[in-house]
Amino acid sequence: MLVSAAEMLKKAKAGHYAVGQFNINNLEWTKAILQTAQELNSPVILGVSEGAGKYMGGYKTVVGMVNGMLEELGITVPVALHLDHGTYDHCYKCLEAGFSSIMFDGSHYPIEENVAKTTELVKAAHEKGVSIEAEVGAIGGEEDGVIGMGECADPEECKKIADLGVDFLAAGIGNIHGKYPANWKGLSFETLDAVQKLTGDLPLVLHGGTGIPADMIKKAITLGVAKINVNTECQLAFTAATRAYIEAGKDQQGKGYDPRKLLAPGFEAIKATVKEKMELFGSVDKA
Ligand code: 13P
Repeated sequence: MLVSAAEMLKKAKAGHYAVGQFNINNLEWTKAILQTAQELNSPVILGVSEGAGKYMGGYKTVVGMVNGMLEELGITVPVALHLDHGTYDHCYKCLEAGFSSIMFDGSHYPIEENVAKTTELVKAAHEKGVSIEAEVGAIGGEEDGVIGMGECADPEECKKIADLGVDFLAAGIGNIHGKYPANWKGLSFETLDAVQKLTGDLPLVLHGGTGIPADMIKKAITLGVAKINVNTECQLAFTAATRAYIEAGKDQQGKGYDPRKLLAPGFEAIKATVKEKMELFGSVDKA
């Protein structure tokens, strides 16, 4: 059964580790992530962007697929199904479809409007036992055509949003989605420290987990990060493995064209990536 992410992240923050949010795109992604979490006895969050939700046939399709897998693959570790960077309307759609967690990304609204909309969504989510993430300070890079600039959040604004009762908070600290450019200055630990001082026990979220060096990830966890989002890295691993399979001509040998064979190396590559991240984040055996 899907669970809200509130409890698992509270435990993570208190235990000084982070739970990975891995974005899903299809059945292979979902199965690879769930099986890895089960094998490593780790809690996990499946992230669904609005674009990925549409791609998979809609939120109800996603809920049906994930619930079916939990039951039929015997997944017993805590799993949350989370809307990633949701707009106001899509937060409601996911609440209705049966997601167990949502993110309202109001970071592009003036702070008063972000406050008003977040307040309303906190109430709607909590009435259904669903956890809610909010964001302050746009995360840079491009995701589903939305380009942010990698700002550092204002710690006072973070406090304001945290006080609305959100379960965890994404604060921009110079992180961006996708690959980091060669001239990236790194995470702003000064900002993270200031945010944590004002938000106390609230679990903090680090977006743009792809390509952040291990030492920065570990330091961010010591400063209150309890959820780390990874998307691009699984895509890169999947695509490289699929490319290698085709370049080796394996699709033309025997029944190598069977999609179950064609997609197998990519599936294994996602599993290896997720395992590496769970070990780095410290969530292994924390289910
Ligand atoms: P990456 O694609 O950079 O790993 O970021 C994922 C993310 O933050 C999803 O919200």
